[in-house]
Amino acid sequence: MIDTEALRTQPELTGETVVLTQLDESYFETSWKALQEPETTRLTGTHTKFTEEQVRRYLAARPGLDDRADYAILGKEDRAHLGDVVLSEIDADNRSGSFRIALNGPEFFGKGYGTEATKLLLGYAFDVVGLHRVSLEVFDYNPRAQRAYEKAGFLREGLQRQALRWEGEWHDVITMAILKNDPRP
Ligand SMILES: CC(C)(COP(=O)(O)OP(=O)(O)OC[C@H]1O[C@@H](n2cnc3c(N)ncnc32)[C@H](O)[C@@H]1OP(=O)(O)O)[C@@H](O)C(=O)NCCC(=O)NCCS
Repeated sequence: MIDTEALRTQPELTGETVVLTQLDESYFETSWKALQEPETTRLTGTHTKFTEEQVRRYLAARPGLDDRADYAILGKEDRAHLGDVVLSEIDADNRSGSFRIALNGPEFFGKGYGTEATKLLLGYAFDVVGLHRVSLEVFDYNPRAQRAYEKAGFLREGLQRQALRWEGEWHDVITMAILKNDPRP
């Protein structure tokens, strides 16, 4: 059994430098700005161009869902919005889910926020929600993300050859996953 109530209520998760809190429409301005950031768009392989209205509606619909968890990553001291981390595609029968994360811009990269947010989300996924497996996809040209995921305990499982086309070039997509009882450094 997984704890769908824990998904619906999304408790705040506190780390050393970041706090994860329910993502909602109050984060529109920073979310909208992040979507215009070309480096983040490239690293997440986001082809879709969203309208302001779509983003507002998407954010407003996040609270209360019981089949996923959308968290805003905030600075612990100032509660500035640094990015988002999401547990989605939850399969209750197989107790599995998908992971994704993006900080809001390059000024936030490489400071440990991503690794810490990943570890907090995994603690919640395994120890609170009760999942058995969390998986993700990362592009071959994103070694920073691969390293952050390894530091949180994800293991590389496979390679989807040329599964991404970005600006006219084919790229491989790496699959990584972590199981409940794998080491979580
Ligand atoms: C991916 C992301 C969440 C990682 O979070 P972060 O806070 O930047 O990463 P951290 O600072 O926690 O850790 C980065 C690690 O990668 C390493 N790293 C950085 N650039 C690297 C490179 N080119 N090659 C190898 N390792 C690299 C850092 O040295 C650090 O490892 P270390 O602590 O062993 O030195 C963040 O960079 C991000 O949001 N990027 C844009 C969106 C994105 O890529 N999302 C993921 C899509 S799958």
